[in-house]
Formats: sequence, structure tokens, C-alpha cells
Amino acid sequence: MQTVNLLFANAWLVDPGAGVQGRRDILVSGGRVRAVAPSLAPFRQWLSGDRGGLRVYDLAGRCVFPGLVDIHTHLRVPGQEHKEDLVSGTQAAAWGGFTTVLTMPNTRPCVDRVSVLRALRKRIDQEAVVRVGIIGCVSRGQAGKRLAPLAEMREAGAVAFSDDGRPVKDAGLMKAALETGRDLGCPIVAHCEDPDLVRGGVVRQGEVSRRLKLAGIPGSAEEVMVARDLCLARETGAHLHLAHLSTAGSVEMVRIAREQGVRVTAEVTPHHLTLTDEAVLGFGSNAKVNPPLGGPKDRDALRQGIRDGTLDAVASDHAPHHPDEKALPITEAPFGVIGLETTLPVMMTLVAQGVLSLTRAVELLSVGPARVMGLSCGTLREGDAADLVVVEPESPVVVDVRRFRSKARNCPFRGMKLRGRPVLTLKAGIVVRKHRSMDECAEELQAR
Ligand code: DOR
Repeated sequence: MQTVNLLFANAWLVDPGAGVQGRRDILVSGGRVRAVAPSLAPFRQWLSGDRGGLRVYDLAGRCVFPGLVDIHTHLRVPGQEHKEDLVSGTQAAAWGGFTTVLTMPNTRPCVDRVSVLRALRKRIDQEAVVRVGIIGCVSRGQAGKRLAPLAEMREAGAVAFSDDGRPVKDAGLMKAALETGRDLGCPIVAHCEDPDLVRGGVVRQGEVSRRLKLAGIPGSAEEVMVARDLCLARETGAHLHLAHLSTAGSVEMVRIAREQGVRVTAEVTPHHLTLTDEAVLGFGSNAKVNPPLGGPKDRDALRQGIRDGTLDAVASDHAPHHPDEKALPITEAPFGVIGLETTLPVMMTLVAQGVLSLTRAVELLSVGPARVMGLSCGTLREGDAADLVVVEPESPVVVDVRRFRSKARNCPFRGMKLRGRPVLTLKAGIVVRKHRSMDECAEELQAR
């Protein structure tokens, strides 16, 4: 079979895992990165020779990043395909520049045993357009009573374990999960929320909750669980990963625990980095998310956390719901917002605003999350799988939910003017998404 060789010429490569930022040509063949050099132009004819032709994309300074890695996605399979399925969810990922996503196990049934995990794996292999890793449940039925068979699920390919969507309320069970995760060499992902403090709350407790007369969720609902889990991680020596942190107090505790040598990593979402509880005033249920959006102090502390390295990854927490479910009154609508198709433009906009550097933004979306989960992706060195995204950093992006590949529309960025558009996504050397603007910079060199 003739192989397709690709040359991305004149790219601005940002590959924090390899310590590269600069103008590069990138040659891809057989699904892998074959060469990365300041210029491969003199070799073009030779490269198109006995290897079967060469497609050259002259990127004229567009950026190339390693394919983005999202360690917190809800693909809703099995059982809730009316919200999202493997085709729509992974296409949304590809459109957003992601080549690897980890899917959360709060499905129907939940991924709490090997049979469910294997059946999901089979469907992923048949339907997904990007790489999908599976996170298994911590507890059977996510009921928080008994541990799920973590060792067997790990053996069957689970990357990590979490009861995400719900906390593990029983501290003894959480400790047992951490000990097991430590012995299996994988993180336990904590959804930090004390239900006794949430008590039916809808938005963050504060000015907005008072104005809307809605039950508020205090920051302490997250923070007491962060504190508890840090204590357990210290005692067990296990790797604790904290999902979707949302308060200034949580960031501060992680910082201190890190300094004391606790094995903790943490992620933050694009919505908690950019929005505050005021978004609920404009977007209603489409800004109802768990944990709830906080105040400006929380947002600023999270921004400081990504700058100074306290937080390791930006994760979308893509949580699709059917439009009819989100059309319910805010007290009844489910928690969750989508993010796969907006995460990169949101982060590029923060870069444009001077909130963080381009290198750090790319790190938080590629090698940072890959390291958290022990994945081998997230860099573009010679020999690595050719997973990459081409980005036009200056292109304006107006968020139009009607154009999303996701089935869901619960997006708190709708109508916003962002900048930084992903225009081509390559997974294992195969183009899984291409914007029309890329056609004009393509050229075919025939085999001699
Ligand atoms: O807002 C959320 N939605 N937070 C979660 O933790 C779960 C998620 C979901 O599954 O919808």
C-alpha cells in the first residue's frame, strides 16, 4: 500500500515536552514523526521519492502543537447516547484539536467492572476518531460503599479510577482506593464535594445566589474534601489527582501539600479559569456546573496556579446534556457544560490577554495532562506518534454552538469572540479534521 507522507513546512512548533519553540519543518510518515528540523526544503524531492509521494502543507508560520490531551471528558457511552456518542464526542475532540481523551465512567451502566470496560473498549475501537482511554469507577455502582475491582480493570486497560460526578464520601473507602491505586501504579481522581455542605445547592454561595434566590454551594464543600484527600494521600504515599479545582482555598492547599512532598496533581477547567458565578445571570442553566463557578478571587487564584505550576493540567470536563434537559428550570437542570470545541480558543485568548505564556498554555494541554496520567503522548519528538494540531493563533473565533460536532449545546461561551482556531488535527499521521483554510497551503509532490 502506498503510504502518505506529510511535510508541515514553515511551522511555528511549540512542543514544551521537547523544549522546542521555533520555526520547524516536520516530516510525518507511517503514522510517526520522522524528522523535525529548521528546514527540510532541500530534501523535498528526495522525500517524495521511493516512499510514495509527499503532501506538503506550507504553514507560513501557523503554529503546530502536539495533539491536545484531555484527561476529563464525558462521552456518555454506554447508555446516554442521547447526550453524546463516540462519534459525536470524538469528532468534537478532533475539531477542538484533541487527539487523546480520557472518558469518565459515570455512564449507564457505569464502568465499574471488566465486562463493561471491555465492551466500551470494543466500541471505541470501532467508532472513535481520536484516541480514547478509559477511567474506571472507584466504587461499585459509584455508590461509595464497596471498591470496584480496580486490579482487574487496570489489567483490562483502565488508565485511572474515579467516581467523578460524585464524591467518595466514606474516607475509609477513599483511603483503600488510594492504597490500591498506589499498588497498581495509577492515580485516583477525586471529585471533591461534601454532600452535607452542598445540600441541594445550585450555584456558588454568594451575591449571585442571593440575588437569584437560589440555594448556594459554599467553597468549603470542595475544600474540606481536598483537605481530607491530601491527608490520605500523604499517609498512603499514593498519587492523588484532584479534578476540576474551583476555589482559591483549594489551590493554596495543593501548593502547601506539594511543598511537603505529597504526591498530588490537579487540573482546572477553562470555564473556571475565565468565568465567574455572574455567568449564571446571562447563561442560566448553561452555566450551571459542578463545582460551581466561583468569584473573581477564585478565578485569579486558579490563574496564578496554572502560571506557577501548582496546577498541572487544563481539562475540559466536557459534560454534554440534551438541550431538553438543560431547558429545565435551573434548579432541576443537570450540572455540566461542554468544552471540547472551545478549550483551545479559550486558552489561546488567555495567552493573547497576557494571562500566561503560549508555551505554558500548550504544556497544560499536552505533556502536562499526559504526565499526570502516565500517557506516552503529548510531544512531537522523532519517533513519536504523529498526533498534532495546526493552529491559527490570530484567527478570530466567534463561538457558534450550531456548528459544534458535539450533540450538546450547553456551552457557557456561546456568542463570545475568542481568538486562536485549530485548523488541522492529525492522529497517528491521519487527518481527522481539516478546516478549508488549509486547502490553499497544500501541495502534492509525486513519487518519481
Ligand atoms: O458539572 C458536572 N457535570 N460535574 C461533574 O462532576 C459531572 C458532570 C456530568 O457528568 O454531567
